[in-house]
Amino acid sequence: MSNHLREEILSLVKKYHDENFNKVLIAGESYIPPSGKVFGFEEVRNLVDASLDFWLTEGRFNEQFEKELAEFISVNFCATVNSGSSANLLAFYALTSREFGSRAIKKGDEIIEVATCFPTTLNPVLQFGCIPVLVDVEIPAYNASAKNVLSAVTDKTKAIFLAHTLGNPYEVEEIAKFCKEKGIWLIEDCCDALGAEYGGKRVGSFGDVATLSFYPAHQITCGEGGAVLTNNALLNKMVRSFRDWGRDCWCAPGNENTCGIRFNWQLGTLPRGYDHKYIYSHIGFNLKMTDLQASVGLAQMQRVGGFIKKRRENHNLLIEYLKKYEDYFIMPEATENSNPSWFGFVITIKDGAPFTRTDLIRYLENHKIGTRLLFAGNITRQPAYKDIEFIVHDKLVNADKVMNDTFWIGCYPAINEDIIKYVSKTFEEFISLSEKGIINAKAN
Ligand SMILES: Cc1ncc(COP(=O)(O)O)c(C=O)c1O
Repeated sequence: MSNHLREEILSLVKKYHDENFNKVLIAGESYIPPSGKVFGFEEVRNLVDASLDFWLTEGRFNEQFEKELAEFISVNFCATVNSGSSANLLAFYALTSREFGSRAIKKGDEIIEVATCFPTTLNPVLQFGCIPVLVDVEIPAYNASAKNVLSAVTDKTKAIFLAHTLGNPYEVEEIAKFCKEKGIWLIEDCCDALGAEYGGKRVGSFGDVATLSFYPAHQITCGEGGAVLTNNALLNKMVRSFRDWGRDCWCAPGNENTCGIRFNWQLGTLPRGYDHKYIYSHIGFNLKMTDLQASVGLAQMQRVGGFIKKRRENHNLLIEYLKKYEDYFIMPEATENSNPSWFGFVITIKDGAPFTRTDLIRYLENHKIGTRLLFAGNITRQPAYKDIEFIVHDKLVNADKVMNDTFWIGCYPAINEDIIKYVSKTFEEFISLSEKGIINAKAN
C-alpha cells in the first residue's frame, strides 16, 4: 500500500469538510430538524481511510468500535450490526437458541412490551410467534412503571423487552432484579438512550442483553448501524451466530481457523470434519456492519460524552423557556434516580387546551421547527397490527393520550440557545393566536 498517497488524500479531508459541511443552524432561517447527525472532519477522515483500506466488511475499525462501545456501557461483549432494528431482532432471536435449554424462548411464550413502543421493538416477538403482553406507560416519563410491568408477569412470561423511551430510563434496576430472581429475560432497548444512567450506572448494563441504534437521529451515528451488548458469553456467541448466517463458526472475516479444529467437528448428522465455516447451528440472518460504517461510529465515540452533555443542557434550557406554558403542556420529567441521555424534548398537550396537537405541530413545521410523534402511539391501533392478538394488561389510557396529544422537538447537539429562544417565541405566538381563537386546524 502506498502510505504517502494515503496521507496526501487524508490531509485534504479537513479542508474538504470545512468547505462543505460546516453549516450552522440559524434560528428562523434554517429548518430545525428534531434530530440529525453532528460530525467533524474526523468522521469523514475515518470514512475515507476505511475506503482506502477497501476491506469493506467488518475489519479494524469495527473491532475497535465494538471494544469502545462495550467499555462505554461497561459490559463484556458488543456485536455491531447494520441497524437498531437488526439489534432488536438478534437480541430476541439469540434468546430462542436451544443452547438455553428450558429458558429458551419458544413460540407462544408471553413477552411484555409497552403499547407506545417503536415497531421494531415489538416485531421480533411477532415474527418469532410469541404473544405480546402490552402495558401502559406513565406520563410524563413515557415509560411503564416497574410496578405495572411486574404486575403483567404470568407463569407464561419469558421476557420483558422495553426501550428507555426517548433516552429517559425506566426503573430498570427494580425490573432487572425481579427478572433475575424469576429467570425471566430482560432485553433493554437502548436505541434512544446511549449514555443514560439509572442509579449512576449506564443503561444497557442491567438486563441480559441490550441494543443500540446509530441511525442519524441517535446520540452517535454511523448512518445506519446498531449494536447488541451483553455480559453473557454464551448469549454473545448466539447473537453472533444469528447475525452471521446462523453459522456455528465464530471466525472474524479473513480468519480461517479461530477454533483450531476447523476440520475436526462432528455436529448434527454431518460427516466428521465437515468444514466448520459451513456448519449452521441456528436459522440465522446476515446483519453485519461494514467497516465503513464502523469507521464513522469510532470517530463519533470521541464526541459521545460532549454530545450527551449538550443534549442534557438543551433539554434543561427547553424546560426553562417553555415552562411558562405549563397551563397547556405537560413537560417531560426524568425518572427518579436517573440521568437521562435525552433523545428529544417531549410534550403532551393537556386536556382542555384551546388547540389540538395537529394545530400546533402544523404551526411549528410552518415556522421551520421540526416535530415528531412518539413512535407508534398506541401500537394496537396501527394498521399493520390490526389482526394481531395482543394481550392488553389493564387499559391503555395513557397510550391513547400519547397517540392523540404527544409530540417531541429536538434537543440534539446542533441546537443552541438562540434556536431555543426562537422555539419559545414561536410557541408564544401560537398560544396567543389560539387563545384569540385565530388558530384552528384549517387556518394554518
Ligand atoms: C426505541 C427504538 N428501538 C429501535 C429503533 C430502530 O433503530 P434503527 O432505526 O436503527 O433500525 C428505534 C429507531 O429510532 C427506536 O427509537
